[in-house]
Amino acid sequence: MTRGKFITVEGIEGTGKSTNIEFITKRIEAQGFDVLRTREPGGTPMAEQIRLLLLDHGQEYLPSIAELLLFFAARSLHLRNSIIPALLDGKWVVCDRFTDASRAYQGSGRGQDLDRIERLAEWVQQGLEPDMTILLDAPAEVGMQRAAERGEGDRMDNEELAFYQRVRTGYLTLADMHPERFAVVDASRPLPEVQGSIEAKLNTIFSDK
Ligand code: TMP
Repeated sequence: MTRGKFITVEGIEGTGKSTNIEFITKRIEAQGFDVLRTREPGGTPMAEQIRLLLLDHGQEYLPSIAELLLFFAARSLHLRNSIIPALLDGKWVVCDRFTDASRAYQGSGRGQDLDRIERLAEWVQQGLEPDMTILLDAPAEVGMQRAAERGEGDRMDNEELAFYQRVRTGYLTLADMHPERFAVVDASRPLPEVQGSIEAKLNTIFSDK
């Protein structure tokens, strides 16, 4: 059996990830593939526990190194116990965020050393890379406005606008560095247009299956 494809979806808050992941999953299923829809941090019972720690760590100070290591610890569990078995089983995996989020948020956003993040990525991923990364891109102001309208408010959402501008720039830089993997979609447009663009990108991966 051929392994399934690994699709990751990235973007700052408020770029419509959930709605579009639903759309992506349905498009892949319509091609006759089984899909594992999952997310980071999370995707396994232990990784979901780590997610809870990351998003709400109470009063205790979370050093940025500990934060980075927790994201990669969750990723290691997720790969070993969920993503890789699903791919080997022929399923397509659609993952809400992956290592590019660590590069963009911990690296570009928080200023963690990008080479160190790459070493962790090599160690944890052991050569497995997404086949396609759909980057839902919008100006940070637009994303923040949409996230505020939804009334979201975990620790990450309270970061200042400048942080999200750095994260967005980080994502766009990654897309420039890896054009073979990234599909950048302008998510500030009306949803039907966004989904039309996503569909066109997915068709390229369907045609080389
Ligand atoms: P979510 O709200 O999209 O589920 O993601 C949770 C938060 O975690 C979001 O603000 C982005 C952040 N995050 C990182 O900072 N680094 C990572 O590696 C991942 C996967 C998520």
